Amino acid sequence: MDAFKPHLSGLAAYPYRKVEAAIKLDQNESPWDLPEDLKNLALERMRHAPWNRYPDMHAEGVRASVARFMNWPAEGIVVAPGSNFLILALAQAANRVLDTSPSFAFYEGAARVTGTLYTSMPLTPGFGLPVDGLVREMDQGAPGVVFVATPHAPTGAVFPVPDVARVAEKARERGWILAIDEAYCQFSGTDLRPLARGNPSVVILRTFSKAFGLGGVRAGFLLAVPDVAVKLQAMLPPFDVPVHTAAVLETVLESPGRAAEVGALLVAERERVLAGLGRHPTWRPHPSRANFFLVRTPDAEVAWRSLLSRGILVRRQDHLPGLTGCLRVSVGTPAQNDAFLKAAFEAVADPPAGAGLTDAARNRPAPDPTPR
Ligand SMILES: Cc1ncc(COP(=O)(O)O)c(C=O)c1O
Repeated sequence: MDAFKPHLSGLAAYPYRKVEAAIKLDQNESPWDLPEDLKNLALERMRHAPWNRYPDMHAEGVRASVARFMNWPAEGIVVAPGSNFLILALAQAANRVLDTSPSFAFYEGAARVTGTLYTSMPLTPGFGLPVDGLVREMDQGAPGVVFVATPHAPTGAVFPVPDVARVAEKARERGWILAIDEAYCQFSGTDLRPLARGNPSVVILRTFSKAFGLGGVRAGFLLAVPDVAVKLQAMLPPFDVPVHTAAVLETVLESPGRAAEVGALLVAERERVLAGLGRHPTWRPHPSRANFFLVRTPDAEVAWRSLLSRGILVRRQDHLPGLTGCLRVSVGTPAQNDAFLKAAFEAVADPPAGAGLTDAARNRPAPDPTPR
């Protein structure tokens, strides 16, 4: 493929494989669909929008709704079909990308796709923000974009504001942009908008895919000072928020309390599941401030298969640095969480046939790729 840029030759697909299961706790989605009345309102809006015409060039209508909801100037808002597109634009714009490790896979993915130099700093023990390492790295070479998710994925850790502020301060001093990804902020009660207000060195990423319950709709947004927003907006294709997405978002933003309510329900469930798992003989859950948590098991493959054999799909994370034996579990509905807890305890008592054997010993090829 000589037509493609050389940096794309070794590019791997995003590390996700769809696996069917009755209870899906592998993508940190909201377990609740949008209520019927809101869906009907959105459909009504959609019906009245002209489908033959292009939508707003830069989602002006949605941006006005986000501006009211977030108390942020519309000129400093960029809306995209998922915050992944905003991450991609940031990586493409950046001289280099700096990340933590482990981290949300698409920060590195976006750097690889765009051929941008990528460096990562390991989290400190106990899943802390490696402030000294990040700041040291930011002192060297050309400035770029540093991604910090808080709550962090996949650990669920919330970083102390002074730690993030130190990175923001270094970004200002050295010409970097700190992208604070608050995809999970409705589950932590944290809000780092104050660090970004009037500050050209900090942008905030938010998504509709989690507490808003709109993973299937694909929408996210970025808050920045207008100068930065205008540049990032110019990097995205025009007319990229379709009329049906706009109809859903504008409807949902008329019920601004909903995401917070979903957040509160899932936080209560998260704490209940973590307390239940605390009594597990061999699995060790990590505390979390997101709508998911890590649980360390003696053998991630055995545990993953045991859960799947009981109809529960979670995500393996044991390939990531420092996460040996770890599974990542999304918080579901109360009934789903009960089923997960039951399966977790049964898994030790009665591992599935073949669990613990290597794929070679089971005489079949290794799964490709291993579901993560
Ligand atoms: C930290 C983080 N940021 C961003 C995203 C992607 O969000 P979106 O669905 O808006 O593309 C995810 C998805 O899991 C995530 O975990």
